[in-house]
Amino acid sequence: RLSSTKELLSNAEKGGYAVGAFNVYNLEGAEAVVAAAEEEQSPAILQIHPGALKQGGIPLVACCVSAAEQASVPITVHFDHGTSKQDLVEALELGFDSVMVDGSHLSFKDNVSYTKFISFLAHSKDMLVEAELGRLSGTEDDLTVEDYEARLTDVNQAQQFIDETGIDALAVCVGNVHGKYPASGPNLRLDLLKDLRALCLKKGVFLVLHGASGLSKELIKGCIERGVRKFNVNTEVRKAYMDSLNNPSKDLVYVMASAKEAMKAVVAGKMHLFGSAGKA
Ligand code: G3H
Ligand code: 13P
Ligand code: ZN
Ligand code: NA
Repeated sequence: RLSSTKELLSNAEKGGYAVGAFNVYNLEGAEAVVAAAEEEQSPAILQIHPGALKQGGIPLVACCVSAAEQASVPITVHFDHGTSKQDLVEALELGFDSVMVDGSHLSFKDNVSYTKFISFLAHSKDMLVEAELGRLSGTEDDLTVEDYEARLTDVNQAQQFIDETGIDALAVCVGNVHGKYPASGPNLRLDLLKDLRALCLKKGVFLVLHGASGLSKELIKGCIERGVRKFNVNTEVRKAYMDSLNNPSKDLVYVMASAKEAMKAVVAGKMHLFGSAGKA
């Protein structure tokens, strides 16, 4: 069954919950997310990072699209962190339903023109466009942000960014980080999130939070109450995959199945925290 990312996020907005976007790297990853979604009766987004796409190529996208089409619940396929124009222009042709334009490494002015350019192309194909303003700290695959000091999203800039680029969803930096949070725990600026939410609501733009791995139940709840409608989850699912491989005496098929089960359990847990379970 075919759905669109816009439809998933609009339903989340109406229902006051958030949809999980889970990074997948291979068939087991895609199947784990779909199996969790079906079991939990939850919508979900399968997302592919450029680094994963480099490895898996067109067959990886095809595998996700096919898993999404065959699922009994709404699943869409999203291109995550498009930091290069070439990657994004190519991604527009591969069958994704939505894309993230990541110009957060650019100056504000260049981020606007980059995002606006891709937004125009993606909208001509009826794809939802997510873009990031501010800068996340932490690392993600080969995307290393040198500056660990998080650069928070500025509300006034966000307004100008939305107006000039015509994006549908805004990924914000409010102290969220890719990968692990420091031992002292996440320091999220929920007050800033509230202001960004007011802006997004006014503009009809969905609020997105990257770096959801490592956020407590309470913080996730706080974010949803402040309008977050899409959470990106990568590290916790990857970790479950890697941890499941620590049994070299077992054979390949067993390892594949247990990796899938391990990822599925993490994804299902997130669906409950995000409030998307039972909403398919
Ligand atoms: O925070 C998200 C926006 O409120 C979404 O609004 O459903 O009108 O697109 P919308
Ligand atoms: P985490 O690895 O912290 O879950 O972040 C995922 C993410 O933002 C993918 O775009
Ligand atoms: Zn991210
Ligand atoms: Na994180």
